[in-house]
Amino acid sequence: MPLRLLSALLLAVATFSTGVYAQKSAPDAEGHAWWQHAVFYELYPRSFADSNNDGTGDIRGITAKLDYLKDLGVDAIWITPCFLSPQVDFGYDVSDYENIDPRYGTLADFDQLVAEGKKRGIRIILDFVVNHTSDQHPWFVDSRSSRTAPHRDWYVWRDGKGPGQPPNNWLSTFGHSAWQFDPKTRQYYYHFFYIQQPDLNWRNPAVEKAMLDVPRFWYQRGVAGFRLDAVDTLFEDPGLHDNPVLPGRNKYGDPNMENKYNTKLPQVHDVLRKLRTGADQYDAVLIGETWTKDIAELKQYYGDHSNELQMPMDFLFTEVNKLSAPEFRKQIAGVDEANGWPVFLFSNHDIRRQLNRYGDGQHDQQIAKLLAGLYLTLRGTPIMYYGEEIGMVNNDPKRKEDVQDPIGRTGWPKEIGRDGERTPMQWSADPNAGFTQGKPWLPVPPSYKDTNVASELKDPNSILNFYRRVLGLRHTNEALREGKYVALNSADANVLSYLRQYKNSAVLVALNMSGAPQKVAFDLTPQGFASATLRPLASAGGPSEAGSAATVELQPYGVYIAEVQAGAAAAAQPGQ
Ligand code: NOJ
Repeated sequence: MPLRLLSALLLAVATFSTGVYAQKSAPDAEGHAWWQHAVFYELYPRSFADSNNDGTGDIRGITAKLDYLKDLGVDAIWITPCFLSPQVDFGYDVSDYENIDPRYGTLADFDQLVAEGKKRGIRIILDFVVNHTSDQHPWFVDSRSSRTAPHRDWYVWRDGKGPGQPPNNWLSTFGHSAWQFDPKTRQYYYHFFYIQQPDLNWRNPAVEKAMLDVPRFWYQRGVAGFRLDAVDTLFEDPGLHDNPVLPGRNKYGDPNMENKYNTKLPQVHDVLRKLRTGADQYDAVLIGETWTKDIAELKQYYGDHSNELQMPMDFLFTEVNKLSAPEFRKQIAGVDEANGWPVFLFSNHDIRRQLNRYGDGQHDQQIAKLLAGLYLTLRGTPIMYYGEEIGMVNNDPKRKEDVQDPIGRTGWPKEIGRDGERTPMQWSADPNAGFTQGKPWLPVPPSYKDTNVASELKDPNSILNFYRRVLGLRHTNEALREGKYVALNSADANVLSYLRQYKNSAVLVALNMSGAPQKVAFDLTPQGFASATLRPLASAGGPSEAGSAATVELQPYGVYIAEVQAGAAAAAQPGQ
């Protein structure tokens, strides 16, 4: 067969076998891929929408809300694990990576979600729990059955140091020893998370192969990428050196410890490169739960910018727990200079909701808009967390007996668990916020009567409508899509300001992070806009009319997003 014909045939076979989704979407004029302009939305499937009224959200519920997400301006949804699972860690304990948990529906429901998403231009991202499985996974069931079982070495088994003594001092991040004695085979297995979440032994090539096969199964069903759970915990020091003990005790009463020998080992990057090779075949994105807290470490997760994670989550914003212009300025500059594509988020299913962290109880509506105005206008990809667009707040358990999240029971009252940030989405003022007609698995807070989608859609000044406005701009405004980040007025202690500048266009963002009104002056001559005029694109507590950049007045926590126009030309344009 002539060579050309053979390669055409091979290409056809490859295209067919990888499905229509494998076709690469063309990068834009700046070479940006789809995920660089997408707005990601994380949703907790138990809590998003309940289609069968059993009190727990499900896949069909998500499908029914795709139009809402589309109208909001969402391009990709990241669904926390919905695979078969005993649900000890609400899905982060997987017992079958290639099936949907019946509580959430069926594979057919999932296929339907992907297809309906595709019709609306919404991609589906799944959560790949790479570090551990459930103790109910058939691999572990076999592994613990005998020391010679075929899957024995798929997990990390070791002898104790002595009678009743674990192999070393490593602690589970969910409290107490990371080693669990298994009486049947009289060895300990290692679990960085719950006892029911044994760590896989990624040094075993059979484990690597089995795990690398999982994404392909889902890519072929049309999934557009994965959020990789806890990637920094994949490898442990085979020498099992004790971790350094630090002063003090943690919220579980254990000694503080530096996880020096059981997290962030360099072999993680080998696995990331292999996962990336698979993702690239399907034009898929990899988001990493990397917990990087400094820029040097963040940079490593990008690899050479084409071979590891496209979107490492740096969590730097989640570390800033007060509104502070200098602090945010510093974090943004760091991420911006890391030379990778930034990823911004404020909260998720493990982190208290942003209004609980930044709200002052008086200006919360305004602060919610301020935060939206910040991370939705930066260069990079934002990951929203369901409910933040309506200003949902934590509904924390008040009594230990009400806690569902196991860490909240182990650590009560210092660690109350993560139930508070995982409560049902507030759809309307109907009972249970319109989430279910059954008994919701977690209670909705009384504030749902006002804080809900239906009411906010009707109110032009709502948080939801502000999000919709800013997300609309993010998709259409060239400077916001493509522009570089230029810090402005860097000495201002109260107002965080920057430009997004692209070719001849620029958008200015000014965010008053203080509870007092502020007057700011901008001289944009160095950026090529002498005597600039600002024309509002979105404003809450900022000017509503076009005006000179030389005086901008902002209300407490005011947010102002404006198009920049140079001098005379600008004066002719009407305000908005
Ligand atoms: C990180 C997830 O975000 C968290 O919810 C989970 O408990 C742990 N990884 C264990 O999988």
